[in-house]
Amino acid sequence: GEIKHIRNFSIIAHIDHGKSTLADRIIQICGGLSERELKEQVLDSMDLERERGITIKAQSVTLDYRAPDDTLYQLNFIDTPGHVDFSYEVSRSLYACEGALLVVDAGQGVEAQSVANCYTAVEQGLEVLPVLNKMDLPQADPDKVIHEIEEIIGLEADMAPRVSAKTGLGMEGLLEQLVTFIPPPKGDVEKPVQALIIDSWFDNYQGVVSLVRLFDGTLKKGDKILMKSTGREWEISDIGIFTPRQKSTGVLRAGEVGFVIAGIKDIHGAPVGDTITHAKTPEVERLPGFQKVKPQVYAGMFPISSDDYEDFRDALEKLALNDASLDYIPENSDALGFGFRVGFLGTLHMEIIQERLEREYGLDLLTTAPTVIYELEMDDGEISYVSNPSKLPDMGRVNEIREPIVRASILVPQEYVGNVISECVVRRGVQLDMQVLGSQMQLIYELPMSEVVMDFFDRLKSISKGYASLDYGFERFEAARLARLDVLINGDRVDALATIVHREQAHQRGRALVERMQEMIPRQMFDVAVQAALGGHVVARSTVKALRKNVTAKCYGGDVSRKRKLLDKQKQGKKRMKQVGKVEIPQDAFLAVLKVN
Ligand code: GTP
Repeated sequence: GEIKHIRNFSIIAHIDHGKSTLADRIIQICGGLSERELKEQVLDSMDLERERGITIKAQSVTLDYRAPDDTLYQLNFIDTPGHVDFSYEVSRSLYACEGALLVVDAGQGVEAQSVANCYTAVEQGLEVLPVLNKMDLPQADPDKVIHEIEEIIGLEADMAPRVSAKTGLGMEGLLEQLVTFIPPPKGDVEKPVQALIIDSWFDNYQGVVSLVRLFDGTLKKGDKILMKSTGREWEISDIGIFTPRQKSTGVLRAGEVGFVIAGIKDIHGAPVGDTITHAKTPEVERLPGFQKVKPQVYAGMFPISSDDYEDFRDALEKLALNDASLDYIPENSDALGFGFRVGFLGTLHMEIIQERLEREYGLDLLTTAPTVIYELEMDDGEISYVSNPSKLPDMGRVNEIREPIVRASILVPQEYVGNVISECVVRRGVQLDMQVLGSQMQLIYELPMSEVVMDFFDRLKSISKGYASLDYGFERFEAARLARLDVLINGDRVDALATIVHREQAHQRGRALVERMQEMIPRQMFDVAVQAALGGHVVARSTVKALRKNVTAKCYGGDVSRKRKLLDKQKQGKKRMKQVGKVEIPQDAFLAVLKVN
């Protein structure tokens, strides 16, 4: 095909507004999928993603679309993830496109995440076409939503196609508008090759597979290529497109998006954001690439059985092959033994990695409470960063401790604004702006990242009947009165239970923490003292009373279902217990600190 008939586009949408459904519908109309395959929702290929209904990794699909005037277009759809934790992935998907569809649920209206992603698209020079989805729903209110798109985002939305991805309503019109609204790529098939790696992943059979966007030139199977970052040469063993199935075509041309395989065994051999050219044209310039993402949240992860340490390390190594944002270094805890301190983009990323380690690699892991990174300035002026509360040095030598601050944008219907403001106040937020946008309010706050990453999003949802939406990004480090809150079990400090807290909240958090821990630690054959201490001073304590011998006997005699419940509980509990000194501590207790707000 000719370059003027290529359209590269992404879909920007807030979670649940129907991006996957719309993508699958487009694929089906263009003949890429049967009705049965459509049900399987091909674009979210990982099981976990499907269960959670969220899209994580960028992927592409190449489709043929015949317009009513009989022109044959090649549509390259590049998927973008919708969740806050993965927003960095969005900008690289957009980099490969000339346009984007902004999908808005016509019953819900505009939400914060899609606003942020939409701005990214506009900044990168993309044409953004708003699409009103879920028009089949009785609560669909297109006029209100058009108004919101114009007010909040500043995009003209009168002509926005009105569709139902679910029923197929309005889809033909959408595709017609797409090919006229989104411009074709610029590029020259005759020029030296300049191709950008949008994504790379490791496949057990094929080695490293790279998703690339060709800006100029033509790449063929058997070509000798050069990776600009490493200067290493490789030979293309396979090249083609995703339909969504992987299909070899032997060639990719300027403007196209597809895969390249070149016998590379290590992901670092084809890093995301790198430029590919021919070995014979080494003078071709490197494309700007992408900003490297830094983990924002760290947690210690420890195998329940120390025999699993090697397996755990191998599993992390494998996962990191496909996930450049995953960061890990060995950690040795007095309480939990050998494990790793693992860095994540956010708590959702953390949960997903944890689940994959458990399901795909059969590991039993204990995870400590997640923490953000703190900046320390020592008395001698030296700056360092701490991602592990138990490693916070003696405060006597620390001149200043600084916590990460985010700028958060919250969109919420007016009736819940009061709730949201109260929640922000509790979390030490500072309001920067508040304005009416359409039928919603936009609140801009600066908040400590530690208050946002934990359960802020869930809280926002629950205090707004699910309507509030959130987007945030790191702003700066700011000095704060912070201290380490230690937990002592029977007089011994348990390093893995330490947290960094604000001094004003330390006593209250300490009390809440020991109370929760007391509920979570099962009774043992002896009394267990749980204490919270600040700078060596105990600020709260509680006792888990020793088990009386006849507790189980009583159950056996009585209610059978109660007995079964107790046994089930013990079984589950066993899996996730760790012996710390003489005391068995369950996984929940390590996360108790997250639940003491
Ligand atoms: P992420 O993948 O998590 O970003 O979500 P998404 O935006 O891809 O949403 P998805 O396509 O999974 O759709 C979310 C829910 O909305 C699903 O239950 C869909 O069945 C439903 N849905 C999508 N499109 C429509 C539509 O046009 N009408 C109705 N009634 N429901 C829809």
